[in-house]
Amino acid sequence: MPHLPEVTITRHTPAAAKGIMEDLVTVYTEVYDTEPYRGDPFFSVETYADRLRAAFDMPGFEVVTAHLADTGRLVGYVHGVTLPADKPWWNSLGDQRPADALAAAAADEVFWLRELMVLPMYGNRGIGRALHDAVIADRTEPWTALTCITDNQPARNAYPRWGYQVIGQIKHAPESPVYDAMVLRPQL
Ligand SMILES: CC(C)(COP(=O)(O)OP(=O)(O)OC[C@H]1O[C@@H](n2cnc3c(N)ncnc32)[C@H](O)[C@@H]1OP(=O)(O)O)[C@@H](O)C(=O)NCCC(=O)NCCS
Repeated sequence: MPHLPEVTITRHTPAAAKGIMEDLVTVYTEVYDTEPYRGDPFFSVETYADRLRAAFDMPGFEVVTAHLADTGRLVGYVHGVTLPADKPWWNSLGDQRPADALAAAAADEVFWLRELMVLPMYGNRGIGRALHDAVIADRTEPWTALTCITDNQPARNAYPRWGYQVIGQIKHAPESPVYDAMVLRPQL
């Protein structure tokens, strides 16, 4: 793996995130301009921008960004919210959810990591992992949950190495691909 370039990791409140909305969408545009996402309406830039705009106002919303220290270029970010206990994808897992994860969600103690992305030309240098660890480290929720497209290698394979447990498969919408749902237990 090439060395981690010097990056500045920054946490953003919802208000600050709104101020860099355009930059966030630009990174998405570049990351998802590839097969099998290109041309799929579920992954269109407009759909993503709508999802992001709606996420800003959800409880617990936060973005953590990575900017190159030398040029200031935004090269990746992660964002998420407090998992709403009644979220349809979460409920669709039924009793595949471990009882302690279910109880944590009911108590607003699960962070839903919604998106993690790094520009392809800066990939495989540790930025994705650094963003992941940075956001988890300061969240108040002890649990994390995420969904990852089953066919999405290498992300799908990396999460279990980072401690995640696959608990089932979901779809976010009838037209979405199949995702593996995963939880990360409280870090001791
Ligand atoms: C997934 C993603 C965020 C990872 O970002 P990254 O900066 O490349 O991540 P890292 O360099 O920290 O690597 C993370 C792990 O993936 C592995 N990895 C990264 N790129 C890889 C590649 N091309 N082939 C194989 N493994 C790879 C690394 O070895 C590392 O494994 P480890 O942590 O067990 O050592 C990035 O590839 C991306 O933006 N993908 C498109 C969007 C996406 O799929 N997001 C995840 C949605 S669930």
